[in-house]
Order: sequence, then structure tokens, then C-alpha cells
Amino acid sequence: MFLMYRFAADKFDGLAKVRNLFERNTMGTQNTWSKTSWKNFTALQQPKWPDMAIHDEVVKDLTRLPPLVFAGEIRDLKAMLAKAVTGDAFLVQGGDCSEDFSQVTAPKIRETLKVLLQMAVVLTYAGGKPVIKVGRIAGQFAKPRSADTEMVDGVELMSYRGDMVNSPEPIEAARIPDPNRMMQGYNMAASTLNLLRAFTRGGFAALHRVAAWNQEFVKQSPMGRNYERIGKQIEQALQFMETIGIDPESPQMKQAQFFTSHEALLLGYETALTREDSINGGWYDCSAHMLWIGERTRQVDGAHVEFLRGVNNPIGVKIGPDYDLDNVKRLIDALNPENEAGRLTLITRLGMKNIEKVLPPLLREAKREGYNIVWNCDPMHANTYTAKSGHKTRNFNDILSEITCFFETHWAEGTIPGGIHLEMTGENVTECTGGARNIVDAELSNNYLTTCDPRLNAEQSLEVAFQIADMIRS
Ligand code: PEP
Ligand code: CO
Repeated sequence: MFLMYRFAADKFDGLAKVRNLFERNTMGTQNTWSKTSWKNFTALQQPKWPDMAIHDEVVKDLTRLPPLVFAGEIRDLKAMLAKAVTGDAFLVQGGDCSEDFSQVTAPKIRETLKVLLQMAVVLTYAGGKPVIKVGRIAGQFAKPRSADTEMVDGVELMSYRGDMVNSPEPIEAARIPDPNRMMQGYNMAASTLNLLRAFTRGGFAALHRVAAWNQEFVKQSPMGRNYERIGKQIEQALQFMETIGIDPESPQMKQAQFFTSHEALLLGYETALTREDSINGGWYDCSAHMLWIGERTRQVDGAHVEFLRGVNNPIGVKIGPDYDLDNVKRLIDALNPENEAGRLTLITRLGMKNIEKVLPPLLREAKREGYNIVWNCDPMHANTYTAKSGHKTRNFNDILSEITCFFETHWAEGTIPGGIHLEMTGENVTECTGGARNIVDAELSNNYLTTCDPRLNAEQSLEVAFQIADMIRS
């Protein structure tokens, strides 16, 4: 009886898959969405969980747990991003390539928040418009990989796919995907968010503390001194405002709005945190305020696009240098059929060698179509190389070249450069070469801590902010 049922269910699943694909292909995205309709599509980059029954049990448990963020906050972020479409706000999105469970500590979270707040201050001051602060934080625990396995000392191991899947140690047992890690990831995200909320609402992010965000190790550097100068000017402005009677205790002065984001990669986890809003109706993925689809999983007929088209969060899509223009247009139509401003952010990661050639056609076509898009520059992912020492790294000048070209191309095309997407940390790491202290290849091993891609350290991140500030001021 059970077998017969299974057989019938499989057959039904198969038929549903064919029907859905047919509908997606013939009627665009008119087919019915549900939070599990992605199961009828091919999902790339999913771990090979050894026991799906345990996976499903964890997903069921997660479904019962409280959401991490609320629909109202997600709507606020979308409204702010709508301003970045028209150039009335600027997005700063940044954090680890891959968050590390062992680094979910108060100092680590505080230092990352500090640099993002510093960058926001520098850019607000230069640009004269609000800066939207979005962390790659509180959920960036799952990674797509170019290969399923890697060779370590002659042994073939399953690739590390982020702490929510397996462990980075190069031993066989550590690399076996464990679905219980999704539950651990939820708990890590919850405690990270709890601290972020405390820091941003409880006075730490108050504008009159702007000088205190300068890290000790940055203070003495040219970046640190530039920052102190801005801090002093802001303090003077605040004193003036107090003198004329503006309330220093108002939320604008005492609190910062900070949002979370991660790549929506593990569809079981994302589904479990997708909830229907009790106030306005509609589905929201409450694992983070903003979710993005990576370069490797953005197939128009793939499961990730199917899942994200139905949730109301702001969505990002990574666009690499080999994009196909028609394909990008189909993606835009699938994910933002109403052309709602703030819904869609295209995160271009083209590489300093390609950007000049491949960004203009994309901008021209999007402008011609009248698409409402937040254009966000990821200058990290197409500028990675392996140093002689074997470290995966990125050079500060390459990163800066891609950013500069991003701004100049937008200005030349009459489109709006809306934001920046960085892999960065508040720590004093040596993972990217160059910058004001000119980290050289031989110094990479001094403090190379990332489990995935190389990040800008606090000083290099601040330097990026100052360089952008110079560009937007002139
Ligand atoms: C990432 O942002 O960490 C990432 C894997 O990027 P992409 O999908 O652009 O390669
Ligand atoms: Co990365």
C-alpha cells in the first residue's frame, strides 16, 4: 500500500514538474506560486544531505520557530531601496564572504557593525543623501562552490559549503553535510540579530558616538585621521543643533537603521522561514530583510528564481561578465513583473578587466526598457586571484578600478550608481593586497582568517568609502 502510494506520488510529482515547466515556458510566470513550488524546478548547489528524512525534520522544526525579521521592516527597506533607484539614497551592503559559527561573538559583530557605520557616515557626509546599511550578516552561512569536491594532499574531499552545511577542516568526516547545522545557523543568526538590534537601538550607534567607532588599529592611519576629522565636524553640527533646540534624544540621532541580507541558497531553510504577513497578506522570507540569488543559481527556469519570485522581500541578483542580455531581461521580468522600485537590485560583479566593455550594454537596455533597478557594484568576486603563496586574494587597486569604472559608466550612460557590495570585516586581517598600508603577497599569511573569499579589512573598507566620497563630491 505504502509503495503504491509512493509510486503514485512520484508519478504525480513528475507530472506536476512537467506541467509547471510547460507553464513557465509558455506563459511566463503565470503559474501558481507557493513557498514549495520551487520543488518542481531544478535546484543547483544544494548539498547532498546524506539523510533527507533528517533534513526534512529540521526544516519542519524551523517552520515552527519565530521569524528572524518582520514584514514591516522588510517593507521599510524596500521603500528605502526605491530611493536608491532614483539616486536619492545610496546602498552600502557588506560583510563576510561566509560567516563562521566560531566567530559569532560580540567583538566580531561589533567591529563589523562599526566599519559599516563608519562607511555610512563618510558617504552620507560626502553625498548628502541617506545611506542604506545592509549587512552580509546574520545568515550568510551557505556557499555555492565551483566544484563539488576538492583535492587536499591527494585525498578527494567534498567541498566546504558554509557552516550551515559542513565544516571547513580538510578531513572527510568534517565535510559531510549535516542538516542539524541549519538549526545551529538559525540560532547563530538569531543571536547575531539580537546584538545588532541592541547596538543599533540602544545608543551604541548614536551619532554623538561617531568618533568611538574608529578602531584602535585604524586611528593612527591616514584613513583613521580623515575619519576623525569628519567625526569632529559632525560633533560640531550636533552641538549646533542642540543649541538651537533640536532634541538630541530623537531616534534620528540615537538610533541607526540596519538591515540583514544573505544569499538565499539553501531552499529548505529559506522555505521554513517564509511566512505569510498577518497585516497586509503576502509572503515574506523572514530569514533576512534582503535576499540575493548568486551568479551560479540564477537560471530563469531554476528553483531559486521560482522561490524568490513569490516572496515580497527586496531581491538582489548577481550578474557576472558572461551574462546574456535576453536572459537578464527574462530574469528581471520574472522577479519584478510589476517593475516595483526597490524590489530588484542587480549586483554587477564584472571584473576590472571586463566592466568597461560589458556594463554599458546592460545599462543601455535597462534604461531603454525603463526598468526600476538599484545598480549595486560588487568589485570583489570577479577580481580574485591566487597569490604565489597559494592564498586566494584580491588587490585593492583592482577593486578600486572596478568601482571607479562602475560610477563613470553610470554617469556616462545617464543611469544611477545605487550602491556598493563588499566582502569586508572589522578585523585587522591581511586577506586582500594593497591599500594605504600596501599589504604585499608575502604578508598575506600574517592574519589570513577567512574560510572562504578574502575580505577587505577595516582600514581598506574605510579607504573604499573615502575614495567613493571623493568621486561623488566632485
Ligand atoms: C558571494 O557573494 O559570496 C558569491 C558567491 O558571489 P557570486 O554569486 O557573485 O559568485
Ligand atoms: Co564570496
